[in-house]
Amino acid sequence: MSEPLIVVEDLHKSFDHLGRKLDVLRGLDLAVGEGEITAIVGPSGAGKSTLLHCLGTLDQPTSGRIRFAGQDLVGLGSSRLAEIRNRMIGFVFQFHHLLPEFDALENVMMPGLIQGKRRKQLEEPARALLAEVGLAERATHRPGELSGGEQQRVDLARALMLSPKLVLADEPTGNLDSATSDAIHELFFKVGGEHGTTILVVTHNVSFARRMPRVVTMRDGKIYADEHGSSWRPPASRGRAGAGLEPNAPPSEPGTPAAAG
Ligand SMILES: Nc1ncnc2c1ncn2[C@@H]1O[C@H](COP(=O)(O)OP(=O)(O)OP(=O)(O)O)[C@@H](O)[C@H]1O
Ligand SMILES: [Mg+2]
Repeated sequence: MSEPLIVVEDLHKSFDHLGRKLDVLRGLDLAVGEGEITAIVGPSGAGKSTLLHCLGTLDQPTSGRIRFAGQDLVGLGSSRLAEIRNRMIGFVFQFHHLLPEFDALENVMMPGLIQGKRRKQLEEPARALLAEVGLAERATHRPGELSGGEQQRVDLARALMLSPKLVLADEPTGNLDSATSDAIHELFFKVGGEHGTTILVVTHNVSFARRMPRVVTMRDGKIYADEHGSSWRPPASRGRAGAGLEPNAPPSEPGTPAAAG
């Protein structure tokens, strides 16, 4: 059997803050197979973004092991990490803003332009991606001429531009209304699925998490629960033994402890 795309073992990440050591990731183990689409949920401060930063080579763990696409990331030099990041990982992070002086099409092409690829060669796939996210008619709009949801869709198209093996998304719909946020999550899932991309998406959106094939719950810097299929339900609704999820059950907030698995 081939190795999973991502294998994380005993991952620790601590921050030094005002002379105090803060242990944020505390012995985390996780394996993610190629093409898997996984939601990461958990309370604020659980370490979800920190984990994504380590997986995305944006930050170095304090100790432990991360294997990605058959290579050990921990200990690699910064230029090698940048190469892996640029070639194999797409990001949909809130701080990853679109470039305001470029239009939607140029923003989608940007990862390729940065790599020195020719505009001509990038334009067609970029247009196809914009069409996939439903924005064929907005190619010439600059970010300031797009709605928030449209900007997020451009961001998703951009993340997929170089056909990354992995897309990391951190609350990609953070400040959108819930209908737009649902639609974007859905799109994310569909587009990623069609490209065979492995996706890890941190979300606080319960109804979205519930539709994901796999839901990993983090708590206190560790994996607290790891559920496949439709068995995940927000902790607050776990009272009834063996109860499944009703497809249209009202969302409830995560936050109360529950039995793992
Ligand atoms: N650079 C840093 N220096 C010190 N502490 C940090 C740093 N980055 C994160 N932390 C702390 O690490 C903890 C985990 O942060 P992280 O951003 O990973 O949480 P999260 O699970 O993504 O939460 P949220 O759902 O609110 O985004 C928090 O308590 C945070 O204050
Ligand atoms: Mg976060």
